[in-house]
Amino acid sequence: MSSPNPAPRFPSSSPQRGLRGRWSDDRFTLEWMVIAVITCGMAVVAPKILLQPLWTPIHAVALGVVSNGIFQWSWFFSRGLLHFPLTGIARYSTFVRIVVLNAGVVALFVAMWTGSVPAALLATVLICGAGIHQGTVLAVEAHRYKENRYAPMVRYYAVAFFFFVVTCLVGGLLSYEMMASDVPAWIVSHADGIAVAHSVVGIGGWAGVTILGTVVTLGLSMLHARQDGRALGSARAALPLFVAAVLVAAIGGVAGLPLMVACGSALFLLAAIWGILTPLWCSFGLRKRSSHAVWPLLAGLVWTVLLVGVFTVESAVAADVSSLRNVVIDQLGVFLAAGIGQIFVASLEYLVPVAIGGGPTVQRVGDVAVSFLWPVRLSLRNAALAVLVLGGNDARTFLLVIVVVSYALDLGLVGCAAIRQLRAKKAKLEAKTIAKARKMTKMGSGEETTEGSDD
Ligand code: HEM
Repeated sequence: MSSPNPAPRFPSSSPQRGLRGRWSDDRFTLEWMVIAVITCGMAVVAPKILLQPLWTPIHAVALGVVSNGIFQWSWFFSRGLLHFPLTGIARYSTFVRIVVLNAGVVALFVAMWTGSVPAALLATVLICGAGIHQGTVLAVEAHRYKENRYAPMVRYYAVAFFFFVVTCLVGGLLSYEMMASDVPAWIVSHADGIAVAHSVVGIGGWAGVTILGTVVTLGLSMLHARQDGRALGSARAALPLFVAAVLVAAIGGVAGLPLMVACGSALFLLAAIWGILTPLWCSFGLRKRSSHAVWPLLAGLVWTVLLVGVFTVESAVAADVSSLRNVVIDQLGVFLAAGIGQIFVASLEYLVPVAIGGGPTVQRVGDVAVSFLWPVRLSLRNAALAVLVLGGNDARTFLLVIVVVSYALDLGLVGCAAIRQLRAKKAKLEAKTIAKARKMTKMGSGEETTEGSDD
């Protein structure tokens, strides 16, 4: 077992796993990012030719990009924080889980496009199976290493996986309600409330809890700041508040009580400000060597706080859950693009070079590529989002195109950085192997000469 308080050290692709390694699993997320950019772009400019024009882009982002990313990165972080070994089934299970998850997501898209209830149920089972497995492994490891001061952060991931399974089961119920011919009356009459609960648990409990648990350590790493014991302590204390907040809001949704949704949302916001963001803010601005990714991360966090605040007020004044569902659908795009999307891209821009690894010189190749013109990309996206939110309806399509293009650029640069860094890493490994082989040959011929002289 590891020492109780090791520093977080994020593992890069190990030479044993070669250049495939974890990077090949990460490609699923990058491929889903391409699909998400295409489907979001189509939803903006040509919604008529997109099947399920609302559901498809939402789930290309929520299930394709966000969920793949969380499966992959929560595993990466948990290993980096707890240093648990990849032995036995844990050695291979990451890849198997990611494949099962993606088989389920693809089956779900086919189900939703063709209206097949059995395919939707199969998809839900596969997706939940992958979630239950990873959540259980992380909960067990967090318990096994409970003396480690980072164990509470891994507990964040275990809790998030619990919410993932809940939201997917509720999503399965919604798809049954949408597509089956003989649906019980109580499901139909509660459909709007169930949809609100699905969104709240998916966005708050799954994406939200994961992000908040991650920014405690990731934010400080990006800032090159010391891992502050108080930040970890308050994050640990805030976790039960997040669980309570998501449950209150979800139950409020199903029960048809928007005010209860508002209470859950307000509790979530206060817990996030008190438990996570204030300690992070205290470390902000102190370091000179911070990564550029701090800025999109900060932008994403500020937008998230503002938009959750607005959602809380809107829930409190909503007449019923049906109008609240419309609020969710109306604001979801901006929430994903301004909040979760920017936090996600910031994490990728910081972590992909770290994850590919290869030593400081090789890592710099990735860092340089990924930070190309970052202030321009960041300001353009945030200016477009701000104008959009402040009522730029006349130029809505134009502004949305700017946002989608800025994400496409981010994505292209992450891919380009990864390819360049992998090449540099490969070249370095080959150079090392050649040097080693030369050394061995020299030693061999040296021995022969010695033997010969003995003769
Ligand atoms: C097995 C997994 C899932 C299934 C079967 C599923 C299914 C559904 C269905 C059927 C709807 C209603 C669409 C409509 O009424 O037009 C929906 C909406 C939605 N889903 Fe999912 N979903 C799943 C996972 C997720 C996850 C993981 C998230 C979030 C991270 C998510 C976020 C949303 C959101 C935000 C909406 C819009 C809410 C609304 O229609 O009012 N879903 N989903």
